[in-house]
Amino acid sequence: MNHLFPTYTRFPFEIVKGQGTHLFDEKGNEYLDLTSGIGVCGLGYNVKELNDAVEQQLHQVWHTSNLYESSLQESVAAKLGVEPDMLVSFANSGTEANEAALKLARKATGRLDFLAFDHSFHGRSAGSLTVTGNQGIKEGFLPLVPGARFAKYNDYAALDEIKPDLAGVILEVVQGEGGVIAGDAKWLKAVEEKCHAVGALLLIDEVQTGMGRTGSLFAFEQFGLHPDIYTVAKGLANGIPVGAMVGKKELGQYFGPGSHGSTFAGNPLAMAAAQQVLKMLDNDFLNAVGQKAAVMHQTMENELLDLDMVKSISGLGLMIGIHLDQSVPVGQVLDQLHAQHVLALSARDNTLRLLPPLIASQDELLTGVDEIKKALNAVESATATA
Ligand SMILES: Cc1ncc(COP(=O)(O)O)c(C=O)c1O
Repeated sequence: MNHLFPTYTRFPFEIVKGQGTHLFDEKGNEYLDLTSGIGVCGLGYNVKELNDAVEQQLHQVWHTSNLYESSLQESVAAKLGVEPDMLVSFANSGTEANEAALKLARKATGRLDFLAFDHSFHGRSAGSLTVTGNQGIKEGFLPLVPGARFAKYNDYAALDEIKPDLAGVILEVVQGEGGVIAGDAKWLKAVEEKCHAVGALLLIDEVQTGMGRTGSLFAFEQFGLHPDIYTVAKGLANGIPVGAMVGKKELGQYFGPGSHGSTFAGNPLAMAAAQQVLKMLDNDFLNAVGQKAAVMHQTMENELLDLDMVKSISGLGLMIGIHLDQSVPVGQVLDQLHAQHVLALSARDNTLRLLPPLIASQDELLTGVDEIKKALNAVESATATA
């Protein structure tokens, strides 16, 4: 096949079917999924309740435009706000949700600049890429949007960079693509306080951490944070493209008619799926995610930390980073896992990254750890004999 721009390095098999936590390729090989399609299909694959919700909508109307009332959008929006009177603007992706957040912060504060963090990832459109802390992926596209400054994540020196000329500070509570680096609770709170002190908005990107991934609907809830704006996407409709920007009510006056919009934003199929996802992510479900994740983390520490090639394990809930020694390329570990019929991910700095479906049973998660241990041992033996 050669009709696609080569923007992705693809593994040489195609996923054609899914069931629960398992995926099947075109040859019928079955895989235990520890990726959720990069943190998207938290509720798994071919889920009856979700299929039914989307199918019902499919036979009603696929698309209507945003010129008319939408009780579906209202219902999803009401559940996305952590406070009852928050407002939502829908988008089609995490990137677009962040783009909306940056626009709103500029308009609301009348200020231009943002503080973002090294190794952050917020998307690849001009604005979201501007505040992404990865120089490599900006190459060839500069200059982007003026006004982004960067500081070190989890570093108290960053507080001095939060100045009264900032529109906002944008951050992930756990940096995902950046290597699964969890924010320090006290530091995050200090960032929030400094934002308040200088009148800058706190923008939290929950695109990867949100929708139950860390054991709460949004990761910031576990840190007692109160962002002015937060963004969601990935797991929101379990795979139907959607994004959302959620903001405090008082910001509504800056996003009036004509200020922002998108043809497909809040599409009925995505909204039907999102409504069902939010129904399924109830407190019992979220607590179970936290409990399963705690057992998995403990098991990983017991089973993997002794291996020479594992330097540390990081993350929160079912967002996990296994940091490998530089001598062991993470790509080789992924290939070995594929041979063992397990799908996993990588992240910056030679990190083996796991984003298993939130519905995975405790046994499946521990099988995943077992398979990773086998894969690491196999790669180590192969490296030793090479
Ligand atoms: C934290 C974060 N923000 C934004 C994005 C961009 O989201 P999307 O790929 O849906 O545009 C991602 C994607 O990985 C992400 O992890």
